[in-house]
Amino acid sequence: MPICSPPPPSSNRPSPQCPRSPEGDRHRTFEPAGDRPVRPETPSGPTRAAAGQETGMSLLATPHTLDPVVGIDAFKGAMGRLAGAVTVITAGRGPEARGLTATAVCSVAASPPTLLICVNRSGEAHDAIARTEAFCVNVLADRSRTVADRFAGRFGNLGAEKFADAAWSSLVTGAPALDEALVAIDCRLAETVEAHSHTVFFGTVVGVRLGAALPPLLHFDRAYRTLS
Ligand SMILES: Cc1cc2nc3c(=O)[nH]c(=O)nc-3n(C[C@H](O)[C@H](O)[C@H](O)COP(=O)(O)O)c2cc1C
Repeated sequence: MPICSPPPPSSNRPSPQCPRSPEGDRHRTFEPAGDRPVRPETPSGPTRAAAGQETGMSLLATPHTLDPVVGIDAFKGAMGRLAGAVTVITAGRGPEARGLTATAVCSVAASPPTLLICVNRSGEAHDAIARTEAFCVNVLADRSRTVADRFAGRFGNLGAEKFADAAWSSLVTGAPALDEALVAIDCRLAETVEAHSHTVFFGTVVGVRLGAALPPLLHFDRAYRTLS
């Protein structure tokens, strides 16, 4: 049973399964109506129109089932086979800086240059991204495993403490850019979509700093890897 069907292309009305939020297209919610309330307190980013694009069909037009067909462990095992580049996503400045280790980063479009990130709403970086309407994706080299662990919370550091012991600068938005990153990709928030526990943040790329093409840090089968 679909939980969020788009309206017909000719219709200007929201579908019964996927009502338009009070903010219109500013902020989309990927939850079945009636099952869970829309979180009005969650900050939203600028509209897609503000980013210079027309709003088209729902980004989440694919029908989804309400009945889980695999358990969480099976899902995590499956996703573990999806080798991913390890990044640290940052937002904010100085004592307000926040960051998390993330593999859920995906290129969306080249024109305008757009990527997306998926961030758990319970993490401390989430609200910093929403509040500043900017973030920087720092793609890690294999030599940066300690940085990855620190921003994954494995050393117990909190808040801006995570930024100690590495060199940071900034590009355009002011979000921290890791000097030793393979590449730092600076983004302005273009749109947000809530998806269960996570928010999908779409960013327009406004700055890129390429570092040396060193062996990358990858995550595969629940462990760090690299290319040899
Ligand atoms: C390899 C790896 C990939 C991760 N990918 C993501 C991700 O894409 N999105 C996300 O929200 N959390 C991801 N996490 C988890 C966050 O890094 C972790 O929950 C976060 O640092 C905790 O933040 P907190 O200290 O604010 O609670 C990942 C962790 C690891 C180790």
